[in-house]
Amino acid sequence: MITTNLWINGEWVETEKYDELQAPFDGEVIAKVARATPEQVTQAINCAHTAYKKFRTVTAYERSKILYKVSEIMESRKEELVRILALEAGKPMRAARGELDRTIATYLFAAEEAKRSTGETVPLDAAPGVTDRIGWTKRVSLGVVSAITPFNFPFNLVAHKLGPAFAVGNAVVLKPASQTPISSIVMAEIFKEAGLPDGMLQIVTGSGSELSDPLVTNPLVKKVTFTGSSAVGLKIKEKVGLRKVTLELGSNAGLIIEPSAPIEKIVDRCVEGAFGFAGQVCISLQRIYVHASIAEQFTKAFVEATEKLVIGSPLDENTDVSAMINPKEVDRMKEWIDSAIAEGAKVATGAVFTKRTLKPTVMVDVKPDMKIVCQETFAPIVSIVSYETLQEAVSLVNDSDLGLNAGIFTMNIEDAMFAADELEAGAVIINDIPTFRTDNMPYGGVKMSGYGKEGIKYAVEEMSDMKFITIKTKL
Ligand code: SIN
Repeated sequence: MITTNLWINGEWVETEKYDELQAPFDGEVIAKVARATPEQVTQAINCAHTAYKKFRTVTAYERSKILYKVSEIMESRKEELVRILALEAGKPMRAARGELDRTIATYLFAAEEAKRSTGETVPLDAAPGVTDRIGWTKRVSLGVVSAITPFNFPFNLVAHKLGPAFAVGNAVVLKPASQTPISSIVMAEIFKEAGLPDGMLQIVTGSGSELSDPLVTNPLVKKVTFTGSSAVGLKIKEKVGLRKVTLELGSNAGLIIEPSAPIEKIVDRCVEGAFGFAGQVCISLQRIYVHASIAEQFTKAFVEATEKLVIGSPLDENTDVSAMINPKEVDRMKEWIDSAIAEGAKVATGAVFTKRTLKPTVMVDVKPDMKIVCQETFAPIVSIVSYETLQEAVSLVNDSDLGLNAGIFTMNIEDAMFAADELEAGAVIINDIPTFRTDNMPYGGVKMSGYGKEGIKYAVEEMSDMKFITIKTKL
């Protein structure tokens, strides 16, 4: 068991209280984690502000070099980091390895983007009566960024905040999810080794609004970037006022399967989208709308493939699905499934619970207002619903407060384009599951799914300001 401290100004700082961290799979206590006091959070913000004032003049070449080095160090320590992730998040080894590969790529995208921060000249003489002036834009850093990250991708979603922030020259105070702090703690060492100056990255661990509030309300914080629930995102939005904010929130991702889709080619991919990391992914496939003519055939094949998934320890290479992040989440899902059953839904497979796991579950005969359909489950549960027309399917997907990614399988280009135009989502994925994401694509939802975009190039824009400069060339 290890004890972790706060990372303030390039040093480990002890605190008054420590919380036990349990492994999701077996409840074993794996660490004692520092709980930052509000005063320590304020100290971290002040130190970040001081470090930023020095760092803001560091060249794009140097910023890029640090980020390249981070990805290089991570590559060399990959298997060690994979095990940390598997243990603390309960993420099966194969999925954990996939996350590390993505994280290394995310830092590489950030390293490349650091060198691409360009502006444009503005033709001022296009305005009536204006002569002898040159004008241009440039992107400038903001200062201190507060980054609040979730448990489900403890390396990669942290990279989506640190990478663009450092690429453009900001300092960061990071508060990782209380369930997965160790992945961030190791990043402190990695960034130091890569040459990031002390103070540019501060890490405060713990939980609760006492700790998070200063991260949102302190006037030295110029931007808040948050990934987590819609409820918390909304509270942050209310508090940030005129400062910048990016909110990556939840969803209940929907997929339409048209009759032209080749079922045998797509079933395994749909199972992966629904049950990868036990459904604890914002774009996990939660609602499948299948055309009535193929619904029975698809459901049968989907259930058969689901039943082949191996449930077990995240450290076992054969495991497909492991524990949920904590037993309370299993209890919540039991309640939601029981209430759906009481209202007429049926279990096609799954709905088997242990204290820490939920067997991948397929529900049918569901109604749009059941919690398992209309709210984000963040669990290994998927509902299958049949439909008659594409318009109806699109309305069913859109009948939600949430809209992050949505998907459609169809071999008909007109139908694909109709869905692309009509689906209310941040991204429409044609001929793949809504769970598809690469780390350079724009990512961010509509409605209650969020505000602003990630994906390194887009996050760099959101983490910087556009400044305009003009010279009068003749006096
Ligand atoms: C998320 O859960 O928001 C991230 C999903 C991903 O990066 O694949």
